[in-house]
Amino acid sequence: MISIKTLIKTFSIVTLLSIITANLYAEETIELSDIQKIETRQEIMKGYKAWDKKLSNAYKQEIIDTQTITEAVLFFKDNSGDELLALFSKMDSPEGVKTKAKSAIWRSFDTFSAITLDVNKAANEAYTLIEQGDFAATKEAMNPIINSCRSCHKKYKAR
Ligand code: HEC
Repeated sequence: MISIKTLIKTFSIVTLLSIITANLYAEETIELSDIQKIETRQEIMKGYKAWDKKLSNAYKQEIIDTQTITEAVLFFKDNSGDELLALFSKMDSPEGVKTKAKSAIWRSFDTFSAITLDVNKAANEAYTLIEQGDFAATKEAMNPIINSCRSCHKKYKAR
């Protein structure tokens, strides 16, 4: 006979394991709703605006502000390329949320993707320069990012 104590112990270990695996699974497969995707990408874009401004100030300082440059580079690195594209999946316009994303995005998704992949590439290059301690060189490396706003918005963002 299995004692009640053993039974409870086994049961709680099984429960614990299933909670852990369920959580791991949930983290891997977390799916945002269409509304959440729109809101998230709009938040990220607000971040683009804020970091773009902070970045240009950082280079204007007499002694360039390496802390801000590092944070900006990390922000653009983490919020471009595939990370950003995942928030632009094709969807019907969900009700109750306004979006300025134009349908041209899905008509020429390759071109749209290429712009954000370039942003990601520039941020990665800038990151390598930071690792080498060459903060001054990051200014030029970040140019594609500074220029990406206009080229992407012109075609893909409504006014
Ligand atoms: C790959 C394309 C792309 C790039 C690059 C890009 N944007 Fe955007 N941006 C968009 C799209 C599309 C929207 C509209 C998103 C929506 O409403 O769903 C947007 C929206 C915005 C908004 C409005 C956010 C809000 O809803 O309040 C701001 C501000 C913004 N972008 C700033 C920038 C800045 C600054 C840069 C460059 C440093 C930049 N963006 C680069 C595509 C891009």
